Amino acid sequence: MSIVETRSLGLYQVIKVQDDQAPEVRPGQFHMLSATVGWGGEGGGRPWLARAISFLSSDGNGGIEFLVDGIGPGTRQLALLKQGDQLDLVGPLGNGFPELAASEETTPCLVAGGIGIAPILALSQQLALAGTEHDLILGFRNAEFADAAAAWPDATVATDDGSVGEQGTVMAPLARALDAGPRTVYACGPPLMLEAVRSRCEESDTPAWFALEAPMACGFGACFGCAVETKNGIVRLCVDGPVISGSVLAGITSTGRVDGQ
Ligand SMILES: Cc1cc2nc3c(=O)[nH]c(=O)nc-3n(C[C@H](O)[C@H](O)[C@H](O)COP(=O)(O)OP(=O)(O)OC[C@H]3O[C@@H](n4cnc5c(N)ncnc54)[C@H](O)[C@@H]3O)c2cc1C
Ligand code: FES
Repeated sequence: MSIVETRSLGLYQVIKVQDDQAPEVRPGQFHMLSATVGWGGEGGGRPWLARAISFLSSDGNGGIEFLVDGIGPGTRQLALLKQGDQLDLVGPLGNGFPELAASEETTPCLVAGGIGIAPILALSQQLALAGTEHDLILGFRNAEFADAAAAWPDATVATDDGSVGEQGTVMAPLARALDAGPRTVYACGPPLMLEAVRSRCEESDTPAWFALEAPMACGFGACFGCAVETKNGIVRLCVDGPVISGSVLAGITSTGRVDGQ
């Protein structure tokens, strides 16, 4: 599939493809992405496995965007792609965030940290299109990353160093939102942030959904590489997730491992 546009969003890179045959994608779902050229070790080494990347946004006419944080060989290669380059794409995969029942008298509270903004911004776009008021809280390390949030002026931004928005983590704005009335929380981000959010929601009996990450080799249930433990037993995040209810999570450890005990 051809890339029709790329652009920077803070230190991240947006990749847009046109897929007129694509099924509708739900926020929280992901695709397995790989480049067709240069996808493997140097000097003709073995090709790499595709990398899991969340759906960021849709233009409603087959245009789908992804947000890439170049942290390792695969994501750096994806971030280097330019308009006209080819991208192999398998998806949409996974469950995505559940839809809020119209009868639920609760305000969606969306919380994201770092590259976790991708599925959360997708959900925010969907809620905004449906006219559903919601909180949008984005946390970043510093201004370089927070530049990504400039495109969402209604978001409450927190940075660790206070260079943009309020100083600190997402926890203070989250506490204010939870104090303001009934909320259902939707979160994605680094494990430490997710565990703090999970624990806060548990304390206040707030329903919460977490888009989790685990190393994914296949993306469709075959390899068990993404297996994590929940209170209900082991699940494969690529097919049973990546969105998991906080009610079945006992903890999210700093290594990203999900603790079901
Ligand atoms: C469902 C899902 C959605 C994702 N969405 C996005 C997205 O929208 N944008 C984006 O940039 N990235 C996203 N990721 C993360 C991305 O898939 C990994 O960062 C990527 O696979 C790393 O590959 P690499 O070759 O660049 O780096 P590697 O060298 O493979 O990894 C770099 C470092 O990250 C660790 N790591 C790799 N994969 C994961 C993982 N899945 N969970 C925790 N640690 C990992 C490695 O152990 C290593 O320390 C998502 C992952 C999942 C599972
Ligand atoms: S990534 Fe292979 S089973 Fe989930």
